[in-house]
Amino acid sequence: NKLWVVIPAAGVGARMQADRPKQYLPLVGKTVIEHTLACFLTHPAVAGIVVAISEGDPYWAELTATALSERGNVYTAPGGCERADSVLNALDYLVNTLQVNADTGVLVHDAARPCLSRHDVDKLLAEGMGEAAGAILAVPVRDTMKRAQPDTSRVAHTEDRNGLWHALTPQLARLGVLREALAHALHAGLPVTDEASALEQFGLHPLLVEGDARNIKITRPADLALATFFLIEAAG
Ligand code: CTP
Ligand code: MG
Repeated sequence: NKLWVVIPAAGVGARMQADRPKQYLPLVGKTVIEHTLACFLTHPAVAGIVVAISEGDPYWAELTATALSERGNVYTAPGGCERADSVLNALDYLVNTLQVNADTGVLVHDAARPCLSRHDVDKLLAEGMGEAAGAILAVPVRDTMKRAQPDTSRVAHTEDRNGLWHALTPQLARLGVLREALAHALHAGLPVTDEASALEQFGLHPLLVEGDARNIKITRPADLALATFFLIEAAG
């Protein structure tokens, strides 16, 4: 009952405004995506990893030729237009090419989240493995939340912060149900910004597992400095 990991890594990183997609930028001695993969490469519960890569991406091949060359259990699938398309392509690869069973657990984790700790992976698995609806890492919202008046930047009212969470990754689900939910949501043109949002459309309610706020997604240039700090802190 090992599980598979899916890493969407086919984004262009537009908000990062760097000379290459952010997952290939240097960060504390290696690239962002190598930090991201490190957590799973050595994890005893992980059967293998499927990374969704853009067509014509020259950087992944460079990495596999050097740093990742000894890894037999790392596969690639083609990236898609949106994150959800990339994830669905990777799930299709698991089913069609690797013939992984539909009941198998799958962890989906952004390539752009290099500060994930082993502790949080284990916590998500411990609390979420028995959940038919899946489970996600999340952190409670800390700031006061304002709702704007429609089409303005003027406050309408203050939202009740109680019970509001930031959704992080990894997100854990069964391969079969997640693939069906993503395919259905994409086909119907519904918004799918994470795996849970696809499951929700099926009436499923994934478990919220409180994770570490340091598991940030590298999105803008300032996030690299933060990630550097967190990784050095974790290593020391
Ligand atoms: N991703 C993907 N396929 C896409 C878009 C995004 O696999 N078509 C991946 C990204 O590589 C990233 C994760 O999904 O690891 C989260 O997406 P995001 O932070 O939005 O990354 P980008 O889309 O690359 O960044 P931006 O939106 O700023 O262009
Ligand atoms: Mg994006």
